[in-house]
Amino acid sequence: ALIVRHRMRNSGRWARAMAILREFEEKCATPIGKLRQVADAMAVEMHAGLASEGGSKLKMLISYVDNLPTGDEHGLFYALDLGGTNFRVLRVQLGGKEGRVVHQESTEVSIPQKLMVSTSDELFDFIATELAKFVATEGDDFRLSAGRQRELGFTFSFPVKQSSINSGTLLNWTKGFSIDDAIGEDVVAELTKAMKRKDLDMRVAALVNDTIGTLAGGRYFNEDVVAAVILGTGTNAAYVERAHAIPKWHGLLPKSGEMVINMEWGNFRSSHLPVTEYDHALDVESLNVGEQIFEKIISGMYLGDIVRRVLCKMAEEAALFGDIVPPKLKVPFILRTPEMSTMHNDASPDLRVVGSKLKDILGISNTSLKTRKVVVELCDIVATRGARLSAAGILGILKKSGRDTVKEGAEKQRSVVAVDGGLFEHYTEFNKCVRSTLRELLGEEVADTVFIELANDGSGIGATLLAASHSQYLEES
Ligand code: GLC
Repeated sequence: ALIVRHRMRNSGRWARAMAILREFEEKCATPIGKLRQVADAMAVEMHAGLASEGGSKLKMLISYVDNLPTGDEHGLFYALDLGGTNFRVLRVQLGGKEGRVVHQESTEVSIPQKLMVSTSDELFDFIATELAKFVATEGDDFRLSAGRQRELGFTFSFPVKQSSINSGTLLNWTKGFSIDDAIGEDVVAELTKAMKRKDLDMRVAALVNDTIGTLAGGRYFNEDVVAAVILGTGTNAAYVERAHAIPKWHGLLPKSGEMVINMEWGNFRSSHLPVTEYDHALDVESLNVGEQIFEKIISGMYLGDIVRRVLCKMAEEAALFGDIVPPKLKVPFILRTPEMSTMHNDASPDLRVVGSKLKDILGISNTSLKTRKVVVELCDIVATRGARLSAAGILGILKKSGRDTVKEGAEKQRSVVAVDGGLFEHYTEFNKCVRSTLRELLGEEVADTVFIELANDGSGIGATLLAASHSQYLEES
């Protein structure tokens, strides 16, 4: 009798666990009709954000980039890329049309967690120190023309209100950074001061978001690149807009007639977005409550933690992992998205990889195959929702640019979207799902004119290219 009771209890637990899973799945659903609504809402908000300052949740920031690289850029330029868990420094010898990228060297430094929530001076001193170390290793492959100061493209991947190509104030932090005294400050001035303190003689020639860098780098290698999307720790997009379609721009009309816009689409929100109680809890406990809602559903910083939250609920309310809730399951961000991706990708019949990850990361051993399958399904639900919403966002941009249809009679236009970021690069299921969903949304005929290209570190090269085209040594033509 005891055993039966126990069995019944177990089957009750299992039913409860499945109910939690199914309810979550339903709330995360992204049928094609919903994705179209999201894409339409995205296009509407783009209009609103371009119309007036603060007109939309989408900041639609003016980048002051009105010319994308041509291939003529030449000379030695540096780039510094700050925006995630690592920052990178890069030097490139650009050779103009023939040579293109003649030499390239880079290094990556991980940012100590405590610096992400410290003071502006501490963060920028650390960066300037690492940059100075890197500059000191410049070898003979690189040539700075006589008498010139070294110049830098600064990729700073947070919302910045620019006042020129090389100045701008930080509006707010995102992605786990929170340094109060930097908000409202000119980040180029902050970096420049830190470089002076470290006796590093270098001029910031261009300040760019990573989306802008990726767009510039993408265009350098492919003329059909019209937009760039980052799917990494955070998510965002940039695209080329017609200058006269930007009512809030009161500056001179650029010669090109174009202006690149940093959408800051991570802050998009809409009643059409499928948000669950877990997303809500994640948001409320985050450093930026109520902000970056699209980002919190899509990007690499958060996906693993959404999975953790659902598992935690299943452990608490359905004893998914036995009578005790594994304590580690309660630790925020302990389950990272790369790990989630590895589990999702487990093709072994007994889901052995899932088993060992659960043990190593969460301290949960002896999981049954059934339980492991639940974990994989959960990863699939969360990744699929994020990937499908990313595709809807891309459709929004294509719509706003009039590239979501094939024009009758006209020569087929090609639209290339350069995509960068670890989530897109390394999470196979996510990557595949973005591509297949965009196809599904566009239909075969249009889909054959739209290309998603992995722009692996286009942003670093892009920043050097923009530094080159905004160098102080360029003669006015
Ligand atoms: C966050 C930042 C944005 C950046 C994106 C990708 O959304 O606010 O500026 O482009 O992350 O790194």
